[in-house]
Amino acid sequence: MRQWKRIVVSFLLILSLTCGIASAGAENLTDILTDSRTAQSFSDEAVSDEDLNVILNAGLAATSAINQQPWYFVAVTNQDVIAEIKGSAGGAGGFGGAPGGAFPGGSAPEGGFPGGGKPEGAPEGFKPEGGFAPPAGGSFGVGAAKASLGDSPVAIIIYMNEKTSSPNASFDCGLACENMFIAAKALGYGAKIVSSPTMQLNGANHDALCEKLGVDTAYTAVAVLLIGREATDAVTSASVRNDMADKVSIIK
Ligand SMILES: Cc1cc2nc3c(=O)[nH]c(=O)nc-3n(C[C@H](O)[C@H](O)[C@H](O)COP(=O)(O)O)c2cc1C
Repeated sequence: MRQWKRIVVSFLLILSLTCGIASAGAENLTDILTDSRTAQSFSDEAVSDEDLNVILNAGLAATSAINQQPWYFVAVTNQDVIAEIKGSAGGAGGFGGAPGGAFPGGSAPEGGFPGGGKPEGAPEGFKPEGGFAPPAGGSFGVGAAKASLGDSPVAIIIYMNEKTSSPNASFDCGLACENMFIAAKALGYGAKIVSSPTMQLNGANHDALCEKLGVDTAYTAVAVLLIGREATDAVTSASVRNDMADKVSIIK
């Protein structure tokens, strides 16, 4: 009888511990999702190989349309290689590498946008790359420096193969990128997604860079994820987010 009691007590103890851990984990994850902002500067501290593997595996675990997994990731820690990418000739395309993108060269115009405003069609609080951060409700042309390729100990290039039968290849790659972003945040790192380096990655040196980075030339770069320990608090420098009244409908 006493033996039974011990078994039941042990079972209840394990159950309550497991539930406690699970709910604590869920709480942390929702905090990460609602509070995480874009890191704008990183320390030199390296990202451990172990953590990098966890992050990359989180990307590989992403869901994709008809499970096409149209991505390929290249994690670069070698700053000479990063410098080589940065020095490559750019091609057409601004944000997102789309032809005729918003900011040729990937940056905001020197001195900010005319009239201190934001580019046409950009949402409120939008911050282009190139060192211009608008204060809340204010104009571009002032503000803190913004991290780009070469400013973090790790840069993960997210490549996409459009020739898979995925109808949503870039969406899928975005999901994989976000999985890695969240994994990095969960491990205590800061992270930033930048698409402006796709101009260099997909420019005149595309094939040579693919060869160097071990990627099939059928792939094009869609974004780069910068990861490292945050040197400054990302929340303080963050842009304003719209709230539910602006962006959500709940129909019951
Ligand atoms: C697909 C994508 C591309 C981005 N490209 C750039 C970029 O090229 N340069 C840049 O400075 N920020 C880039 N960002 C970062 C966003 O501007 C940033 O996440 C957004 O303004 C919110 O910033 P916050 O979290 O600091 O408020 C990109 C973000 C995404 C999701």
